[in-house]
Amino acid sequence: MSEAIGPYRTAWCGEVLADQVDNEVKVAGWVHRRRDHGGLIFIDLRDRSGIVQLVFNPDSSGEAFALGHELRPEDVLSVGGGVVRRAEDTVNPELPTGEFEVQVTSAKRLAKAETPPFQIEGFSGEVGEDTRLRYRYLDLRREQMQKALELRHRVVAAMREYLGGEGFLDIETPVLTRSTPEGARDFLVPSRQQPGSFYALPQSPQLFKQLLMISGYERYFQIARCFRDEATRADRQAEFTQLDIEMSFVGVDDVIAVNERLLAHVFERAGGPEIAGKMERMGYDEAMGRFGTDRPDLRFGLELVDLGDALRETEFKVFRSVLDGGGAIRGLNAGRREMPRSELDGLISRAQELGAKGLVWAFREGDGWRSPTAKFLSEAELADLNQRLGAEEGDLLLLVADKVPVANAVLGQLRLDLAERFDLIDENENRLVWIVDWPLMEWNEGEKRWDALHHPFTAPAGDFDPSDPGAARAQAYDVVWNGQELGGGSIRIHDAEMQEAVFGALGIDAETARDRFGFLLEALRYGAPPHGGIAYGVDRIVQRLFGAETIRDVIAFPKTASGFDLLTGAPAPVDELQMRELGIGIHKSKLAGH
Ligand code: AMO
Ligand code: AMP
Repeated sequence: MSEAIGPYRTAWCGEVLADQVDNEVKVAGWVHRRRDHGGLIFIDLRDRSGIVQLVFNPDSSGEAFALGHELRPEDVLSVGGGVVRRAEDTVNPELPTGEFEVQVTSAKRLAKAETPPFQIEGFSGEVGEDTRLRYRYLDLRREQMQKALELRHRVVAAMREYLGGEGFLDIETPVLTRSTPEGARDFLVPSRQQPGSFYALPQSPQLFKQLLMISGYERYFQIARCFRDEATRADRQAEFTQLDIEMSFVGVDDVIAVNERLLAHVFERAGGPEIAGKMERMGYDEAMGRFGTDRPDLRFGLELVDLGDALRETEFKVFRSVLDGGGAIRGLNAGRREMPRSELDGLISRAQELGAKGLVWAFREGDGWRSPTAKFLSEAELADLNQRLGAEEGDLLLLVADKVPVANAVLGQLRLDLAERFDLIDENENRLVWIVDWPLMEWNEGEKRWDALHHPFTAPAGDFDPSDPGAARAQAYDVVWNGQELGGGSIRIHDAEMQEAVFGALGIDAETARDRFGFLLEALRYGAPPHGGIAYGVDRIVQRLFGAETIRDVIAFPKTASGFDLLTGAPAPVDELQMRELGIGIHKSKLAGH
């Protein structure tokens, strides 16, 4: 830490080391632990830098000794005394300062602490997360949380350092703005001055960063807060932080190259995996085909295989009807496994829960299968399936017949489940991969329309034929780390006509486009350079670097899975007067009890 200043300390607890021996020091902090050995009282005093042992001795500390008796965990203290080397047999090897202690000569309690709802010292991890979040200011005192936030600081500082050095300008964009279409629901803020009108909180700074490129800023970045009213999960929060980047006069390879150097720098500073040279790239189709997902975990095999060709002539009605309906039969070889019937039934339920109608399981036995489904398939079909799946004696095979997206989603997830079940992942391995060459749009069967896979501002690769949106590819890229999407971006459309054509294909009619994105369409007419960029989930990067279970553990004041801030009690009702000023009423059907 830097120099200790203020009237309460001359040294940091964690820095009471050899060079301080025989010095008089003042240290300040919280009572971490107190041990009363009759004649002597030992206090572990904690500040952000670490812990030092204080000794209250009736002979040397006089008045302070009386205070030593009264101290309780988490009381705040400033003490003065001499630093001594501990006797050999009292050295504490667990503490960096464990060879030293402060012989207290004066002490002042600066604040008393009530008994905390959970122990800071010796925190067992058995405290419910709700309690931790309710008393977050106490939870944040724990070393684990402190380390997480220090790492977060280092990550963000490294991002700023690298990008600043490459000529990127850190520019802030508004939080009270209009809806940005990243596909989630908006948080709305009512306007008092314009009753009936609302700001939307940004889901990302997407449109502003594009405008900055049109304004000629060339290279922009921002550590930006984003807001998405969506269900929170282990790696999602309603309010989260992006590293948002945009640059002009570039193509896909340029953006990727800058970002590989950025990641290498950040990981180097923050203790992540080494990135030497170019990162791996994989086409979207290949990722979907081999892993059933656009964020493949490449640390283990169990790849998906297409089996339709082996079953062209099949008489098994389940497969027959799926193939006739244009679906696919896909499978994976889980390797040589033992599994009791109950667990195999569990796999079937899991597949159904994930959206499949069923699951075929089989163990290769001789030239055929041990499986309830074996009797429906011919010998030739079984041999062909075994060959395509690379099945050897005793291997467990899993097959799903369904529409391609369903078969992929189900097998892609079963693959991950199996990796966990059979411990197939080497936690020390790191696989970072760019997923490239995305389709521009995908068909939304529920809504009967085309949706942008990335967002509506992504530039098509090559020509765009509005009559066949499904054929268009996108100049888009995602970076995936061990199966988690860290960031994604694209080259943008920089031509108003193209943007209108893409809006059209997405079913956004001209009037809606003008109403919602008129300012962008207009700006595109005043000389827009080719541009592109990317955004990373900062919380996710830190989570991964820290090895945390959830992003909540690397956010100082996160919200619960249902979006509550247990510390402040937000969201909360507001009073009538505020509502009236805003011209707002709450519909009866939305109030509790209705
Ligand atoms: P996208 O929507 O893919 O792209 O978001 C970029 C990255 O932000 C992170 N992320 C989240 N992290 C925590 N909680 C969430 N709810 C959440 N949602 C997203 C992910 C994701 O990869 N404007 C585009 C970027 C661009 O085109 O430049 C965008 O926002 O890590
Ligand atoms: P059924 O004829 O529905 O009893 O199904 C026969 C077997 O095929 C059962 O083991 C089902 O779990 C399995 N099955 C049913 N539908 C599918 C499907 N879409 N994909 C894979 N297996 C399926």
